[in-house]
Formats: sequence, C-alpha cells, structure tokens
Amino acid sequence: MTRVLVSGATGRLGAPICAAVAAADDLVLAGRVARSLGNGDGFPTLAEAIAATGADVVVDVTRPDAAEPHCVAAIAAGVPMVLGTTGMDADACGRVDAAARAAGVPVLSCPNFAITAVLMMRLAAEAARVLPDAVIVEEHHVNKVDAPSGTAKRTADLLEEASGRRPPISSLRLPGVVANQSVVFGAPAQTLEIRNVTTGLEAFVPGALIAARRVGALGPGLHVGLELVLD
Ligand SMILES: NC(=O)c1ccc[n+]([C@@H]2O[C@H](COP(=O)([O-])OP(=O)(O)OC[C@H]3O[C@@H](n4cnc5c(N)ncnc54)[C@H](OP(=O)(O)O)[C@@H]3O)[C@@H](O)[C@H]2O)c1
Repeated sequence: MTRVLVSGATGRLGAPICAAVAAADDLVLAGRVARSLGNGDGFPTLAEAIAATGADVVVDVTRPDAAEPHCVAAIAAGVPMVLGTTGMDADACGRVDAAARAAGVPVLSCPNFAITAVLMMRLAAEAARVLPDAVIVEEHHVNKVDAPSGTAKRTADLLEEASGRRPPISSLRLPGVVANQSVVFGAPAQTLEIRNVTTGLEAFVPGALIAARRVGALGPGLHVGLELVLD
C-alpha cells in the first residue's frame, strides 16, 4: 500500500484527489495538508505532515508560491513528490532539479493530469513537425492564479522542440470554463485545430493517482509530464 499525503487537500482539485486516494484499494490517504487544517483534521504545513505521517509520496496541488518550498520540504525528507501545482518558474525548477538530484529523490511535475491534455500535447508536437506556424489558446476559470497555464507553457516547449519555432499563447479567463486548450496550425488555404476540453475536475483525478503510484520508480531529479509514467 502506498501512503499518500495530499497537499492542498481542501482545494477544488485536492478534495477529489483525497476522496479517490481514500477509495483506492492500493493507496492510503496518509494525511491532508492545507493552511486552514489542524486540530486532528489535517496539517497546516507540509513539513509537519511529512514528519508526522512518514508518507511514501506527496501530491501537491496548492498555489504557485508554495510549489518550490513544498518540493524542498519533500526532497529534504526523501519523499517522492508529484507536483500538480502549476506556475513554478524556470529558476525554481532548476533549483528543485538540483536539490532532487543531490538528495536522490524523484519529483514529477505534471502540468496537466488529464489524459486528453496529454494526447493533445503529443498530437500537437507531431503536427508541428510539418506545420511550424501555430498558436496556443488556453481557457481557464476566473480563479486560476497563473497565466499562461502550465499546460500552455509545456505545449509551447514541445512545439518549439519539434519545429524550432515557439508559438504565441493567448490566455482567456472566463466563467463557465474549467480548463480547455486549442493548438491551431495554419498553412496556405488550410488550418488544423487540436483541442482538449475538460468539463469537471474529475478529469484530473485518475492521472494524479497514476502519478502517485509510479513517481517512486523515476530516477532522481525533476521530471516533467504525466506521459513519463503512462504505459
Ligand atoms: N496538474 C493538473 O492537471 C491541474 C489541474 C487543475 C489545477 N491544477 C493546479 O492545482 C493547483 C490547485 O488548484 P485548485 O483549483 O484546486 O486551487 P484551490 O481550490 O485554490 O486550492 C488550493 C489548495 O491549496 C491550499 N494551499 C494554498 N497555499 C498553501 C500553502 N502555502 N500550504 C498548504 N496549503 C496551501 C489551500 O488551502 P488553504 O488556503 O487553507 O491553505 C487549498 O486547499 C493550482 O496550481 C492549479 O493550477 C493542476
């Protein structure tokens, strides 16, 4: 049984991840972390929760400003980390990678846990090999803290690797939207749109559990993309 600590446990995404971990036959919800928790219902800090529970893995879905300190706390304790939180900048990613390598701990950053998003990124990278002119349009709910989204930045990285050209990103924040992204390609007299749509946060939960089960098998350092632990 893998003992999973969920950081951001009271959030829109953290709460359904906690419920799914608790319901899974092979996982145990070792503890819940959020600043508003304490007094027996959870832990206000991740470091305290790791020390108290001895969890096997942390799944973090909090806020961009908590991402690096939470990675550092997990690495310092030698606990593999799944980072679902988006918005950690490149410098912080470099520091987390160096610390994780030095400590021999795997950290898996998943900008998007939804299987349709993973496929959208893979198919878009494939299309970019022959269609280098592209734009990314990402759409999220109005409470999203970071922009552009982690998925959009990851998609731009993949397209740049494939075509040598970095696509521009447009970010829309609208009521009624959960998390959608289109990658639109253009060529003379033709366009191609690759789009993924999520209508509820349950889209992200199975991927978060797969990452929690498999992050421990990765080597030390910061890894990016759920696809690294998919069959
Ligand atoms: N990877 C993916 O597929 C995916 C999908 C959707 C969202 N996300 C990302 O996941 C993150 C959470 O999104 P959400 O919509 O669930 O946000 P949310 O509803 O605002 O929830 C944030 C959670 O984090 C806790 N929190 C915030 N700062 C904290 C800190 N310093 N220490 C401990 N807990 C802290 C909050 O509780 P307190 O305020 O009580 O601390 C709350 O439980 C965001 O970065 C979002 O972009 C990723």
